[in-house]
Amino acid sequence: MRLLLIPALLLVALALAQAPATGPVQPIPYSHALHAGKLKLKCAMCHENKDPGELMGIPTAAKCMTCHQAVKTDAEPIQKLRTFFESKREIPWVRVYQIPSYVFFSHRAHTETGATCQECHGSVATTDVLKRETDISMGGCMTCHRQKKAPLNCTYCHEPRN
Ligand code: HEC
Ligand code: HEC
Ligand code: HEC
Ligand code: HEC
Ligand code: HEC
Repeated sequence: MRLLLIPALLLVALALAQAPATGPVQPIPYSHALHAGKLKLKCAMCHENKDPGELMGIPTAAKCMTCHQAVKTDAEPIQKLRTFFESKREIPWVRVYQIPSYVFFSHRAHTETGATCQECHGSVATTDVLKRETDISMGGCMTCHRQKKAPLNCTYCHEPRN
């Protein structure tokens, strides 16, 4: 029994380490399930894929205020949002998906191959607090590149192209 229990506990610990039960505590309790799900706002409304297309970006407080100048103005999180906006400070969102700067990655190059947001970010529109749902480690990139017959050579992801 004992001998089996230890590896079993190790596996549970590993699973917990890889998939945190909940995402990071954000400075404002923004919910994708409410905005992208219930209110059906388009991802591109807040995540514009500006040229040259690498980033999706995180919206500014001003973008939020286009609605929240009028919506729910007396709710505490919205007052906090207003404070950021009025003091011209950006909201210090805690990043969920991030890769090191020595890896080259372009959103546009991937969406042009037909990859969807969901394939790499999971079920955003039904999630309140985002957490990492997919594997964006080198192994995760490689798995899809292998499946789609995309290149696997080291320089492909580790050297800039132009
Ligand atoms: C297109 C309009 C729109 C935009 C843009 C928008 N929101 Fe909202 N937001 C709403 C609506 C509608 C509600 C729900 C109000 C209700 O419960 O009646 C809401 C609710 C919220 C709440 C919950 C407030 C509470 O305590 O009840 C928070 C927090 C919030 N929004 C933050 C944000 C942030 C941060 C942004 C920018 C990233 C943003 N919103 C952008 C329309 C918008
Ligand atoms: C009203 C604005 C708004 C809309 C609409 C919206 N988002 Fe977001 N998104 C945000 C904000 C604000 C954050 C930063 C806070 C957070 O992580 O929840 C964010 C964060 C993210 C992140 C994590 C980025 C990181 O690395 O930290 C992903 C992935 C994402 N959004 C995908 C989507 C997808 C997919 C959709 C459409 C289904 C969508 N978003 C719609 C405002 C929006
Ligand atoms: C092929 C996988 C893949 C697809 C498809 C994808 N993403 Fe991402 N996304 C990533 C990776 C990897 C990062 C981290 C990038 C970094 O740190 O430079 C990221 C980062 C982000 C961020 C954080 C801000 C930024 O620009 O780095 C947002 C927001 C985001 N993605 C939204 C989206 C949305 C919306 C879609 C669909 C239109 C989408 N992503 C499609 C892999 C993907
Ligand atoms: C959903 C599957 C999928 C995932 C996940 C994925 N890729 Fe890709 N990637 C592709 C496909 C398909 C291409 C296009 C290959 C071609 O043009 O022959 C591509 C192309 C690229 C390119 C070339 C882009 C350009 O500018 O031409 C780079 C660099 C790249 N991927 C890096 C990454 C990195 C880094 C990750 C992980 C963070 C990743 N990919 C995850 C499918 C994927
Ligand atoms: C499809 C894209 C892709 C290809 C191809 C690729 N890498 Fe990576 N590599 C990544 C990503 C993404 C990371 C960052 C992983 C993380 O976040 O820790 C990484 C990280 C690394 C690191 C940092 C150490 C580590 O493991 O975290 C080394 C070293 C490395 N890669 C070497 C290589 C070599 C050698 C090759 C060729 C055999 C290669 N890579 C091919 C995407 C790629």
